[in-house]
Amino acid sequence: MVENDAIIRAGICLVLQNFTVGFSFIKEDFELEVIEAPHGEAGIRQIKKGGVNLLLLDNKLPGIKGMEVLDYINKNRLNISVTMITSDACLELAIEATNRGADGFISKPFTPQELRSSVENSVKQLYLKRMTRQMTSQCKSIRYKFLSVLSHELKSPLNAIEGYLQLMKEGSAGNEIAQYDKMIARSMERVSGMRSLILDLLDLTQLESTEGKIIHTNIDLSEICKMTVESIRPISIQRNLKIITNIEDGIMLKANARDMEIILNNVLSNAVKYNKQNGSITMYLNKVDNNIVIRVMDTGIGIAKENLNKLFLEFSRIKTFETREISGSGLGLSILKHTVESYGGNVDVESKVKEGSTFIIKIPTI
Ligand SMILES: Nc1ncnc2c1ncn2[C@@H]1O[C@H](COP(=O)(O)OP(=O)(O)OP(=O)(O)O)[C@@H](O)[C@H]1O
Ligand SMILES: [Mg+2]
Repeated sequence: MVENDAIIRAGICLVLQNFTVGFSFIKEDFELEVIEAPHGEAGIRQIKKGGVNLLLLDNKLPGIKGMEVLDYINKNRLNISVTMITSDACLELAIEATNRGADGFISKPFTPQELRSSVENSVKQLYLKRMTRQMTSQCKSIRYKFLSVLSHELKSPLNAIEGYLQLMKEGSAGNEIAQYDKMIARSMERVSGMRSLILDLLDLTQLESTEGKIIHTNIDLSEICKMTVESIRPISIQRNLKIITNIEDGIMLKANARDMEIILNNVLSNAVKYNKQNGSITMYLNKVDNNIVIRVMDTGIGIAKENLNKLFLEFSRIKTFETREISGSGLGLSILKHTVESYGGNVDVESKVKEGSTFIIKIPTI
């Protein structure tokens, strides 16, 4: 409260003593602590200290005027709700103060009830304003997360296509164009996958409203698994990795096919990236009781025990001599974990440095 009249200050303190403001939808009421400032300079000093949320501000003050305190708040974009105390309820002053950022008015002399209801209004307005602001920033962070997931997921089809193009460029399958039919078809599949991801992005720019609308259908996970293995073949050939598969046929799951591709792509692309030249990748898919079990084993660089708990964090990459030249964003496994958990499943990892790692993903079918 910035007010030069000591009697009014004492009165305001008395009225607001033990006064609380409550909302039906929040548990605890807001309590008020009143800090007195006899002039604008003291008011600004107090504001600078922080912790001021509401300001009762007299305009006629010795030294700087109330309007100047208002300007200070405005200029510094402070999140403070200002109620002007005006002695003469004059329209011009009200308009000017509103233009300069005041939120409310109370004119002298006021009754205790008028003061309380004015303060109550300010508390509620400020609370709602802050809640709205918080919600907007949460939406922004959801959108950012979504965009990072999406751009990450665009990378793996791009890598696959690049791999096929590289093989074609080297003429690895012979001189006849027909010998590349399979590679071309696979590349086109990946292009169409990318296109639908991009279309999703366009849909999901209003992510908030589409949450929960993802369609789950009965999908053949065995087929998706085989397809994903095929799509990493071009990059594994470049490193001379052997891929061994042990995929049980006809494993059905009620899920979103793209989510499953995300899971498989990430774990397989890591098994390629963090493998050794001439190594191998073994991929198992089977159903044990009511769980689908995906197991991907590699003969790569392995992960030290103390790093195992960092793997699934966003943007977390393990820096070792072996990984120094491998590029990545550190998002893959965090996306994988998040996706697996959204199906009520879990991810486990077993690893031995320099020998290899095994990622085990379990997804319940019911
Ligand atoms: N199979 C693996 N063998 C050894 N280390 C691994 C393996 N998989 C993941 N890691 C380690 O875990 C880190 C995190 O993996 P993650 O997939 O999240 O990110 P990334 O592969 O670095 O990048 P991105 O997948 O986003 O391209 C990797 O940087 C790597 O150090
Ligand atoms: Mg990865």
